[in-house]
Amino acid sequence: MHSLATIGLFEDYGFNFLARWGHILSGITWIGLLYYFNFVQTPAFAAFEAGPRNEAFAKLVPRAMWWFRWGAAATLGFGILLLAIPESSGDDSRLTHMAFFKSAEGVSIAAGILMALVMFLNVWLVIWPAQKRAIANAQNVLAGKEADAGLPPVMRRAATASRTNTFLSIPMLWYMAFTAHFAGIDPKYAAGVSHGSKRAVWYIVVVAFVAIAEAIALSAPPVGNAKSYHLDDHRRTIVGGVIVAVLLYVLWEGLFG
Ligand code: HEM
Repeated sequence: MHSLATIGLFEDYGFNFLARWGHILSGITWIGLLYYFNFVQTPAFAAFEAGPRNEAFAKLVPRAMWWFRWGAAATLGFGILLLAIPESSGDDSRLTHMAFFKSAEGVSIAAGILMALVMFLNVWLVIWPAQKRAIANAQNVLAGKEADAGLPPVMRRAATASRTNTFLSIPMLWYMAFTAHFAGIDPKYAAGVSHGSKRAVWYIVVVAFVAIAEAIALSAPPVGNAKSYHLDDHRRTIVGGVIVAVLLYVLWEGLFG
């Protein structure tokens, strides 16, 4: 007879697995809606007449935004749990055992987490406040009140932040999956990352890439500006994200392979 405590799912390995499952479920909720906004809703709304667009903003967008922002919060919460709960008995929590970030897995997941954290902040501090204002504006216009004249620049910044999240999501997901299924498996990487100077180059390049991408998002360049070349057309965003993922992998291989 099993007691609850001897069922694998309620032992160390099991809790880590449950956090992983919750992380992936909430991650697909968040990123699925991000792709819906970028590839479906925004281009469709641009083709709507003003009346139906306001109605959609007032009735559809609040529901989509609820799942979107709470999906992002749950993904972060489960991600922190994944770091906090040891993977197997006897392991240290990776949150308190900072040497983890000097291992091949640590160096890989740190890149993914940095990109995902910036994406999370874009959701809660840039995209959601702008969408809240757009929803209120649509409700006011439908009630016959004045439109919010200050909305366009706020919406442009939300659009560049949202596209930047789509752009970052491609290399981000590479490093989420790469960690356990590649970086941590091939022993040659363990030797490669033991050089502090190589790790420093890796971290500098990753941080610089994310900082430049985010600076462009927050400066909200107008459509057609050279700085937003990778953001103004969703195909360019996808191709750009894949190019960055491949370039970062080339750097990874060059440094640690
Ligand atoms: C918001 C901040 C995030 C944090 C702190 C975080 C943290 C983590 C951690 C610690 C892991 C475990 C790595 C390992 O296997 O050792 C992981 C894996 C993973 N994450 Fe995230 N993550 C975040 C965002 C996301 C997002 C937005 C997605 C999108 C779907 C995502 C999808 C995944 C996937 C698919 C894995 C691989 C699971 C596996 O191979 O078993 N993560 N993440």
